[in-house]
Amino acid sequence: ESEPIRVVVTGAAGQIAYSLLYMIAKGDVFGSEQPLILHLLDIPPMMGVLEGVVMELSDCALPLLRSVVPTDDPVVAFKDVAAAFLVGAMPRKQGMERKDLLSANVKIFKVQGEALDKHAKKDVKVLVVGNPANTNALICSRYAPSIPKENFTAMTRLDQNRAQAQIAAKVNVPVASVSNVIIWGNHSSTQFPDASHGTVHMAGKDIPARDAVGDDVWLRTAFVETVQKRGAAVINARKMSSAMSAAKAAGDHMRDWFNGTPPGKFVSMGVISDGSYGAPKDVVFSFPVSIKNGKWEIVQGLVTDDFAKELLDVTGKELLEERAEAIAVIEA
Ligand code: NAI
Repeated sequence: ESEPIRVVVTGAAGQIAYSLLYMIAKGDVFGSEQPLILHLLDIPPMMGVLEGVVMELSDCALPLLRSVVPTDDPVVAFKDVAAAFLVGAMPRKQGMERKDLLSANVKIFKVQGEALDKHAKKDVKVLVVGNPANTNALICSRYAPSIPKENFTAMTRLDQNRAQAQIAAKVNVPVASVSNVIIWGNHSSTQFPDASHGTVHMAGKDIPARDAVGDDVWLRTAFVETVQKRGAAVINARKMSSAMSAAKAAGDHMRDWFNGTPPGKFVSMGVISDGSYGAPKDVVFSFPVSIKNGKWEIVQGLVTDDFAKELLDVTGKELLEERAEAIAVIEA
């Protein structure tokens, strides 16, 4: 039997974690053969709630879950971890400016980067979910110089899953029949959901999503806007932000990173930019990636038209602004 791996989830007393912990602990992410030790980090006022989550994990009687380490100390939380789900962040409160949110969260991700640098395994795979996810991942990586930059990623998989679901509903096929839909750029309302390289499996073969949909106007307008604004639509309806679907996406992202993507298929992840497709360098930008042996590679050679170039430019500019604001906060 394999040795247990240590996996940390931050924001472990929060609503995304409540769905995510169960998925991880039952084997959906690291496989049904991989025993786990779960490290749960949250802040001191949440330790009582966290104790309840620990009780429930115990009561789930999950065979893969060997032990649980609840803590408010990043040193304990990040010790020897092989995978990190950085979900915990300061939520946006009423009257809070985007800038206030950025400044509170950037500081959290600086501290966590330093703790990962000192205490985690050097090949730890880090997924940042807490917003602003792309910029938090960038800051986290900067404060963890002994861990490769490639090991820090931000979640745009929820946006990808939303986009795939929209196409599947439009064409009336099961969601698994839709592949290679891309999310470019920032996990924000400037993201560019792009179906122009997507495929739909119909009548025994893969056909271009554009042909299956047969409505380019929809793909450039309603489709893009629906995906960009889906988070807000869920908040309006549920009075709370996406949690079940965010947890599912976090599990999908980490599972694919560990297990790889099938030949010819790609997924979207926020990764450190090398300037591919004209994106700014040294920001965490969502690209289509293929994954092999635990390493992602940006898919090259996709043709982007003027419409795509324009949207890529907008989201890239926003990431440059966020980076500048984040650096100003940290160096102040
Ligand atoms: P939540 O408010 O229910 O839970 C967040 C938890 O993080 C709380 O328990 C809080 O105490 C904890 N926390 C705050 N500061 C912390 C710190 N320094 N260390 C450890 N824990 C800390 O929020 P929810 O719904 O679980 O969302 C978490 C984050 O995920 C938010 O930033 C949200 O905006 C983001 N999100 C990102 C998505 C994406 O697609 N990238 C999708 C949905 C949410």
